[in-house]
Amino acid sequence: MRVVGFISEKGGVGKTTACYHVAVALHRYHQKSVLVIDADYQRGGITGRLFPDLIEQFRRGTLPDKTLFSKFQHLYSASNFDPSVNIRHSSVGVDAIVADTRLSNVTTNKLPSTNNIFENNISLINHLKVIKEVIVNLPKKYDYVLIDSHPEISDVLRSIIYASDYCVSPVKLDLQSSVGVPTIVSEIGTVNKDVALMKATIDNNLIYNPTIFSGAMGMMAREYRGTPKQTEADEMRRLRSTGVVFSAYVTEGDGIRKAAQERLPVYDISGTNAEKQSRQFLQLTSEFLTKCP
Ligand SMILES: Nc1ncnc2c1ncn2[C@@H]1O[C@H](COP(=O)(O)OP(=O)(O)OP(=O)(O)O)[C@@H](O)[C@H]1O
Ligand SMILES: [Mg+2]
Repeated sequence: MRVVGFISEKGGVGKTTACYHVAVALHRYHQKSVLVIDADYQRGGITGRLFPDLIEQFRRGTLPDKTLFSKFQHLYSASNFDPSVNIRHSSVGVDAIVADTRLSNVTTNKLPSTNNIFENNISLINHLKVIKEVIVNLPKKYDYVLIDSHPEISDVLRSIIYASDYCVSPVKLDLQSSVGVPTIVSEIGTVNKDVALMKATIDNNLIYNPTIFSGAMGMMAREYRGTPKQTEADEMRRLRSTGVVFSAYVTEGDGIRKAAQERLPVYDISGTNAEKQSRQFLQLTSEFLTKCP
C-alpha cells in the first residue's frame, strides 16, 4: 500500500483535479485498488465529484459519516482513540473517505496540556499520527491511498505529510503558484526532522520512513504550437533547479472544464481537447507510478 498526499500552499492550482484523475486512471487503466481521502474541509471537491448527491449535506455539515475529524476529536477530549471511519464506494470504482468541514477546527492547541514535557510531546506525536492510524487500520489494504488537501500549512497538512510515503504538488505553471513549491518541500523536511527528534528522544519504537517529495505536477499549462509557451517552459526549468518536476503535464482546456461540469472523468468526455487532456492524464499517471512506486 502506498500513500500519496496531493499538497500545495496555493489554492486553485489543480490539486483536486489531479488527485481525482490519477485515482480514476490508477483504478481503470492499471487495475489498482484506490482509496481517496478528502481532507479538503473547505471545498470537498473530490467528495462532490465522486458523490454529487452528498455535496449539499457536506456544505450544511450534516453528513453522518465517521470522518477524520472525529479521530482528532478523540485526542482533544482525551477519550479512547478509535481509528475506524466510514468508507464509501463510488460509481467510478474508487473508494473514499468523504470531506468534513469540521476539519478546519483541527489544531494541536486543543490538545490537553500538562506541565510535563514528555507527556506533551507524546500527545503531539499522537496528533501527527492520526491519519496514519486511520490508514493502517483500514478494513482493506488498498494499492494506493491518495489524499486531497486544503491549501494551507496547518496541523492537518502535517498529519497528511506524516501519513504519506510520497507527496506531490500540483502547480499552475505561473511564477506565483510555483514559488509555493519550496514552501511545501520545506514543510515535508520539517515534519521528517520533528519525527527523527521524537524517535531519538521520546519513542524509540516509532516506525517512520521519511516522506519523499516526488515532484511538482504542471497543471493548466498553456501551449503554443504543441509545446509549452515560453513562460511555462521557463517556469519548468526554474522548478527543476529547485527539485523534482514531472515531465508529463496537463494543458489548460475545455475538456477538463466540461468534465468538471458533468462530474465525470475527462476520460469519459468526447471532443478533441478532452481526448488530448485524457492522454496527458494517462501519461501523468504512468509517470506517477514510477515516481511513487
Ligand atoms: N487543465 C485544466 N484546464 C481547465 N480547467 C482546469 C484544468 N485543471 C483544473 N481546472 C479547473 O480549475 C479550477 C481549480 O482546479 P482544482 O479545483 O483542481 O484546484 P485545487 O488546487 O484543488 O483548488 P483548491 O485549492 O481550491 O482546492 C477548477 O474549476 C477546475 O475544473
Ligand atoms: Mg481542491
